[in-house]
Amino acid sequence: MPTSVVSPHFYRDPDHHARELEGLFRESWVFVCMRFELDGLVHRGVQVGGVSLLLQCDSQGRPRAFLNVCSHRHAQLCESGTHRGPARCPYHGWVYDREGVPVGIPAKHCFPEVVAEPARFRLQEFNCEAVGQFVFVRISEGGPALREYLGEQYAFLERASEGMQGLLDEFREPVDANWKIVIENALEGYHVPAVHSRTFMQVDGMDRAETAPRFFLEDRLHSHLEHAADAQWVARFARMESKIGQWPWRFAHYTHHHIFPNLTVTSFMGYSFHVQSFEPTTSRQTTVHSRTVGVEFTGTTPAGAKMMEHIHADGHAFTRKVFAEDGGICIKVQAGVDQAQRPALVGAGIEDRVAHFQAAYARALQGSETSMGGKA
Ligand code: FES
Ligand SMILES: [Fe+2]
Repeated sequence: MPTSVVSPHFYRDPDHHARELEGLFRESWVFVCMRFELDGLVHRGVQVGGVSLLLQCDSQGRPRAFLNVCSHRHAQLCESGTHRGPARCPYHGWVYDREGVPVGIPAKHCFPEVVAEPARFRLQEFNCEAVGQFVFVRISEGGPALREYLGEQYAFLERASEGMQGLLDEFREPVDANWKIVIENALEGYHVPAVHSRTFMQVDGMDRAETAPRFFLEDRLHSHLEHAADAQWVARFARMESKIGQWPWRFAHYTHHHIFPNLTVTSFMGYSFHVQSFEPTTSRQTTVHSRTVGVEFTGTTPAGAKMMEHIHADGHAFTRKVFAEDGGICIKVQAGVDQAQRPALVGAGIEDRVAHFQAAYARALQGSETSMGGKA
């Protein structure tokens, strides 16, 4: 049984949190939103590693990430969330086009250089790439391309994106615990009997009696698991199939993917995908952004559509209950971690994905400390 390689101090110290944002979040490809959330001439404010960003699609339809700061006198351009139309500065009204170039300038005769060469005054830009419907940003200039960074997860996200249609459900809520506590909680099923005895244990459709989940830990950063669905559950679906119809990627298991550092993508049988990002708000607070993404069904009868509506409604209620249970326990973990002096213990087998995450985290941090040391 290994002890944790992450000191309790790293789950509570504000200075360490600032180092994480800089050395880890700004060096990693971080999930920012779904591609379809940028459709229809909107722009969107998000935070990555403490950097405020404005996301939008350019005139070619490619997602782009800009610093959310006006080129004129540095007002913040937009609040977090989605906004219709082009980016327009709230201070003096400069308007930016899809490429981040200032194209609408009140009293423009006062800014002859900008009018002559507007592209020179473009918003500062960061790396932004999408795989399927998943849009990622990396603040740091240097580093691997998204495909290389994601390894095998690239193909998974690409396949999962097939037929994705839009959000079925969404919430964004704070949990008063360090982001690593919330991620680690998502990476093990050991707590399920104690924390989720009234939710997961009853209705999740997983075959807990007969099979154990299978872990995939080969990648140095990311991990995933597959857990066979309960045979009766699958049979129930098969019976309803003529009404429900088909969806693009059907599998007979539950799958849970962790994309380092702070994204999880889970699905049961592929009829919807649960996309959760864990935004590091402060050293003791995480903002959980939860999206349930629907996929396209074909050959669905009206009765089948009703059934799926019920299944999704049950799913949304279930997600919120599980979120409340996990949030409650994470607060207790933070309270304990605040007092802890010794490293935590990590169970062999049952908590292997926690150990995997901690090892990836320690390496990422070490790399950043070396590079920070190098700069000094
Ligand atoms: S600061 Fe943006 S228009 Fe002046
Ligand atoms: Fe949980």
